[in-house]
Order: sequence, then C-alpha cells, then structure tokens
Amino acid sequence: MSKVLNSHQPVLLKEAMEALCANKGGKFLDCTFGGGGHTSAILDSSDENFVYAIDCDPQAKERANALQQKYAGRFAFCNINFTEADNMYLSPLDGILMDLGVSSFQLDDKARGFSFREHTKLDMRMDNSSGQTATEFLNTATKDELVEALRDFGEEENWKKITSLIIGNRGKDTLAYCDLFANLIAVNVSDRGKGRIHPATKTFQGIRIAINGELNALLKALPVLFEKLCLGGRLVVISFHSLEDRIVKQFFRRMAGQAVNRADNEPAQLKEKFAKILTTKPVVPGENEINLNPRSRSAKMRVLERIK
Ligand SMILES: C[S@@+](CC[C@H](N)C(=O)[O-])C[C@H]1O[C@@H](n2cnc3c(N)ncnc32)[C@H](O)[C@@H]1O
Repeated sequence: MSKVLNSHQPVLLKEAMEALCANKGGKFLDCTFGGGGHTSAILDSSDENFVYAIDCDPQAKERANALQQKYAGRFAFCNINFTEADNMYLSPLDGILMDLGVSSFQLDDKARGFSFREHTKLDMRMDNSSGQTATEFLNTATKDELVEALRDFGEEENWKKITSLIIGNRGKDTLAYCDLFANLIAVNVSDRGKGRIHPATKTFQGIRIAINGELNALLKALPVLFEKLCLGGRLVVISFHSLEDRIVKQFFRRMAGQAVNRADNEPAQLKEKFAKILTTKPVVPGENEINLNPRSRSAKMRVLERIK
C-alpha cells in the first residue's frame, strides 16, 4: 500500500458551513468527501445533522469508515461518482456541497501518479479502479483531444509544442512515468523564467481534468443535484478552475432566471426562476487561509438557494 504523506486541509470551511446553515440541523449531501473535512464540520455543527457523503476514490471509503463510529447513525458513505447521485434515494436535502478537484491525499500519494517529481506510473485517475490512465490517454488520444486537454483544460500556452512532443514520444517510457514526462516538458519547453511553478504543472492539470472527465461530470451533476434540494435548500460549490467556475456560474444564472451569457437573448419575462443566487461575486479565501494552505489560492465558492 502506498504511503500518504499529508492530510487534506478543507478549503473555505467556515464560509461553507455558514452558506449551508449547518448549525440549524438538517440533511446534507457532501458530493466530494475526500478526507471528510467538510463532512466532519457539518456533523460537528449540530447533533441534528445527517450527512450522506460520496466520493469516487476507493481510498476515500477507508477514511469514511473511520468516521462511522464517531458519527454513528448520522453519517452514510457511498463510493460512487457524483454523476450517479440520481440513483440514490435521498429525502429532500437542506444542503449540498461540492468541493471540486483532487484532494491532498491523492496529490501527495506517490502511487496515484499525480506528482511530477516522482518516478511512478503516470496514472492520475481519481477512481483508480476503472477508466483510462494518463499514460493510456497520452498514447491513444486524438490530436484534438490532446489540444483540448492542454490548451483548454490546462490553459498551457505552449500547447502546440507539447502536443507534438507527446505524439512524438508515443509508446516510450517518457509517457509512462511522472518524472520522465515532466522532464520531457521541462527540457523542451522554456518557461521564459516566468514562474515558480514547474513547467509541466499546467499540462498535468489539463490531462487530469481530461481523463477524469471533470467538466462533464459537473455539467451532468448540477441539475440532478439541484432537484434533490428542499425549498430553501442550499447548493454550495467550491471550484478551482475558471472553466469549472464558469459552468457553476452559468448553471446558477439559468436557475435564477438570469441571462446565462451575452448570447442569451431570451426575454427576462420568459425565464422561470427556480432559485436565488446568494453570492453575486464568488467567495474566495483570505490572505490568512492562503498563507496557511497555498492550495486554497484558486478556490471560488458560489451559493444558490432553491425557491421553487
Ligand atoms: C478537493 S477534494 C474534497 C476534500 C473534502 N472536502 C475534505 O474536506 O476533505 C475532492 C474529492 O472529490 C472527489 N471527486 C472529484 N470528482 C468527483 C466525482 N465526479 N464524483 C465523486 N467524487 C469526486 C475526489 O476523489 C476527491 O476526493
């Protein structure tokens, strides 16, 4: 079994608990259990709270088991993708939380293949019991799929060069191991002395988003989850990527009867309002939180309340 070095610091914890009104007592769904930081905080906020938690990572189940005794009768865990939440029988929920992306458990566990410093297999699946590994993706994806991963999901400006490098290295060890792949990028792509981040950071991010289908999962899950809220129930989403945040923002606007984007010309009086947006601007971590937990720096939290 691989070794996990760090635990996960829950992001925007106080803000998320306030947004969920967790101290009032109710039924909640945590769609991204991870290490259970937010789940535990909900359960600690009121003895009247019940939390259903989901995570697609098989290792999250072990961490959930550790909470079963402490919160006996108030906590249930399901090892599924949140796109399958439709199949769960859940009574109307007072609050739903999504804290998107990967956890520190996944990032710091060398064997999971997310870290470009390690000589381990390039995997990057959140659910490592099924689906394509990053290496399989790099060896088989079409050029368009690679471009989408690097340019769109990774926002990597050297996407053309890196796409060619990937295609030219197919079948080689350089696409099979984290450190070799990261090094391939580092030696061939100049970062023009721009940053403190490793030159492969954005490529790794884009590939991770692609192989885990992260944006499609969010698009698919939001309307299903919204239907599970009671009237007055809150949907709280913490995202870490501009494309994720855009999906959340547009979904919230649609549910609130607002124009989704500039191209949306439908007259306001024809739009139906199912929800109220409680965050005109996303809530972001303060300097203090970013200093204590640098991984929180790109977090954005949006909150929606069901009214119909
Ligand atoms: C940022 S972590 C959540 C951390 C958690 N809030 C905590 O405080 O410990 C995101 C978690 O969501 C899970 N996840 C991401 N996408 C998922 C999906 N589509 N379905 C189920 N779980 C998902 C990941 O496996 C990861 O464990």
